[in-house]
Amino acid sequence: MKALTWQGKRSVSVETVPDPTIEKPTDVVIRVTSTAICGSDLHLYEMLGPFLSKGDVLGHETMGVVEEVGGAVTRLSPGDRVVIPFVIACGDCYMCARGLHTQCETTQNTEKGTGAALYGYTELYGSVPGGQAERLRVPLADFNATKVGHDLPDDRYLFLSDILPTAWQGVVYADLPSDGILAVMGLGPVGQFVGRIGKYLGHRVLAVEPVPERREMAERYGIETFDLTDDIVERLRDATDGRGADSVVEAVGMEAHGSPGAAFAQSAVGLLPDPLAKKLMDTAGVDRMASLYTSFDSVRRGGTVSLSGVYAGEADPLPMKTLFDKQVSIRMGQCNVQRWRSELLPLVEDPADPLGAEDLVTHRVPLDKAPQMYEMFQKKENGCIKVVLKP
Ligand SMILES: NC(=O)c1ccc[n+]([C@@H]2O[C@H](COP(=O)([O-])OP(=O)(O)OC[C@H]3O[C@@H](n4cnc5c(N)ncnc54)[C@H](O)[C@@H]3O)[C@@H](O)[C@H]2O)c1
Ligand SMILES: [Zn+2]
Ligand SMILES: [Zn+2]
Repeated sequence: MKALTWQGKRSVSVETVPDPTIEKPTDVVIRVTSTAICGSDLHLYEMLGPFLSKGDVLGHETMGVVEEVGGAVTRLSPGDRVVIPFVIACGDCYMCARGLHTQCETTQNTEKGTGAALYGYTELYGSVPGGQAERLRVPLADFNATKVGHDLPDDRYLFLSDILPTAWQGVVYADLPSDGILAVMGLGPVGQFVGRIGKYLGHRVLAVEPVPERREMAERYGIETFDLTDDIVERLRDATDGRGADSVVEAVGMEAHGSPGAAFAQSAVGLLPDPLAKKLMDTAGVDRMASLYTSFDSVRRGGTVSLSGVYAGEADPLPMKTLFDKQVSIRMGQCNVQRWRSELLPLVEDPADPLGAEDLVTHRVPLDKAPQMYEMFQKKENGCIKVVLKP
C-alpha cells in the first residue's frame, strides 16, 4: 500500500510499504477514507526527528471502513464505518477506568517512561504505524474503533479522532466559571474548536493568533480576535476590565512564534546527531515558550491555564514566581479521546453542525500530495488551516 513516511527533518514522502495485517486477535484492519494532518505532525516534521526512524508511517487522525477483523473482535464487522482515536487504550485498566486513556497501563511505553501508545508518534509512544496511508491496523479495536453511521460526510466524524476532543478537554480542564471569559492562544485547528466550544457553551471568547485568515475564520463564530503583538498581554487585560481572562487554553505548543532564544536552541538540536539531540532535549530548554508565558501573564489571578499545545523539553525555565504569586492552576496532557466521544458524537451528528465540523477543512487532496501539504500547513500558505488526505 501507499503511505506517508518520515524521511528526515522537514522531509516526508509517499512510499510503498507492506500492507498492515492482523497481528493480534483483538486487531482490525481498516481501509482509510480520510486522514488529516495535525499540528502535532508538524512537531515530528520539525523538532522530534531524533525519536523517529526513516520510513516511519505518520498520521493519527484517521477514519475508514473495517476490512478484516481478528478472531477475538466481537463488536466490529467488515463494512463498519469507524473513526479511530489517536490514543490506543485498553478500556479496562486502572487508568482507563478513571478516564485517563492517555495513561493506559496496558499500552503504556514503560521502557521509555511515557504514556499510552499513539499512532504515528515516535519511539516514545510505541512506534505504531500511523494512518496517513491506504490502510491502518487498529489494535484493541473493540474498545478503540468508534462505530459511526453511514449518512453524514467524513468531516463530521473525522475530527473525533483528535482535535475535537482535544479542544473539548482543553475547555473542560480550563475550569471556566459559568460567566467566565475564555482566552485561547493560537487559532490552528485545535484553537478554532476551543473557541467555538467556548461560544457554544455561552462564554465570551478572546483569541490570539498571528495569521489573518485564521483570525477571520474565528470571527465568523463570534470570537474576538487579537493579532500577536508585543503588547498582547496589556491588550488582553484591557479587554477584561484589567483583570485578565478567567481561563486560558494554550493551543500553540513548542514551536510558538516570538521566542528567539529557543528558536536558536531548536535549530541547534536539529543539527546534532540523534543521541546527543535526545540528551539535550532532556536537559535543556528547547521549547519555545512565548505563548505559554502569554498564557500565564494574561490569565487573571486565581485563574486556570489549560495546555493543549504539546511541549517536549524537560528543563524549560518556567516563571515559577509569577505562577505562585498569581495562584494559577495549570492542567495539561494529551487528550483522553475515548473519554469525551459519547458527549461529542451527538454534537457532530446534530443537523445544525453547532461546532462547524464541516467548516474547518481548507485543503482536501489525494495522499500523493501529502508532502506538499506538510510544507504548506507548516508555512501557513494559501490560507491553509486544515488538510484532509484522501488515500
Ligand atoms: N493535547 C493533545 O492531545 C493535542 C492534540 C492535538 C494537537 N495538540 C497540539 O495543539 C497545538 C496546536 O495544534 P493545531 O493542530 O491547532 O496546529 P497549528 O500548529 O496549526 O496551530 C498553532 C497556531 O498557533 C499560532 N501561533 C504561533 N505562535 C503563537 C503565539 N506566540 N501566540 C498565539 N498564537 C501563536 C500559529 O500561527 C498557529 O495558527 C500543537 O502543539 C499540537 O501538537 C495537542
Ligand atoms: Zn493530533
Ligand atoms: Zn487501559
